[in-house]
Amino acid sequence: MASPFRPDVLKGKVALVTGGGSGIGFEITRQLGLHGAKVVISGRRKEVLENATASLRNEGIDASFVQGDVRKYESCEAMVAGAVKQYGRLDILVNCAAGNFLALPEELSSNGFRTVLEIDTLGTFNVSRAAFAALRDSGAGRVINISATLHHGATWFQAHASAAKAAIDSLTRSLALEWGSFGIRVNGVAPGPIRGTAGMEKLAPGAGGALNDAAVARIPLGHMGEKEDIALACVYLSSPAGRFVSGHTMVVDGAESLHKEQIVPRAMVSSVSRGVEGKSRKVGIGGSKL
Ligand code: HXC
Repeated sequence: MASPFRPDVLKGKVALVTGGGSGIGFEITRQLGLHGAKVVISGRRKEVLENATASLRNEGIDASFVQGDVRKYESCEAMVAGAVKQYGRLDILVNCAAGNFLALPEELSSNGFRTVLEIDTLGTFNVSRAAFAALRDSGAGRVINISATLHHGATWFQAHASAAKAAIDSLTRSLALEWGSFGIRVNGVAPGPIRGTAGMEKLAPGAGGALNDAAVARIPLGHMGEKEDIALACVYLSSPAGRFVSGHTMVVDGAESLHKEQIVPRAMVSSVSRGVEGKSRKVGIGGSKL
């Protein structure tokens, strides 16, 4: 899809994307860069970061990387310092680093639960906290936390990730409240099923067959999303078009999280409904004739 945004809409801005070396994080970085931002990616694996940076530069994007782990606060300070050193400022922070796997809660170890919360929730706090001064100095700082819809209700085998993402959404609201007066907007983006991501591979292993069909059947729009759908939501929230939006987590899931099984088949709705109405017209509450 050709972007509906002007290619210079983020010109002059500097963005840091955690987990930007692969998957959705990479596409977010790429789209921010294609819309004019200078970009810094962070992650744990140097080779992944090197390859991603080279690929971004091939597209004409001014890109660099800082290796680090969002679970360690000093690492987060180094990421922010790296961006400011390289480009002189920081305007946009996207917290995309995440970890996940399928697990039964009764089998999941305490350390497994902690690990996911540390990467997702503590990591989001750590980098946001480390970036505060630079985002404040930007005069128009933006934080975008990549969330999920797992915790809207509950999701099988995802107790750990649901807890982590629920806490992230809460943090999004709290930081929007606390940092608004510094000109910092804090929002979230909650992806649904997105094609070709680690999330889909891990949560629907072997997707492509029956599991894939089952996943698509739950999406009212009738198809999975693309990484670009999440990335362009981030461009919107980073751009002046989102200037009065803060504290909101935008769901980008084709309405998947609203899915409910139909109790009455669609084709039968009118006849069933008229039948029920007919009965209730004859006999009202308490048996009185209507
Ligand atoms: C149960 C598991 C497990 C699994 C690890 N653990 N994998 N428990 N089932 N499949 C447990 C380990 O046994 C260990 O506990 C603890 O978790 C830490 O594991 P480590 O391997 O030491 O951790 P680490 O090397 O830091 O790796 C973190 C990770 C890993 C989360 C486990 O998968 C990772 O780095 N992932 C990053 C990439 C990723 O997952 N991306 C997908 C994000 S998708 P014990 O007790 O044995 O010590 C996403 C989307 C959400 O977030 C929404 C989708 C719609």
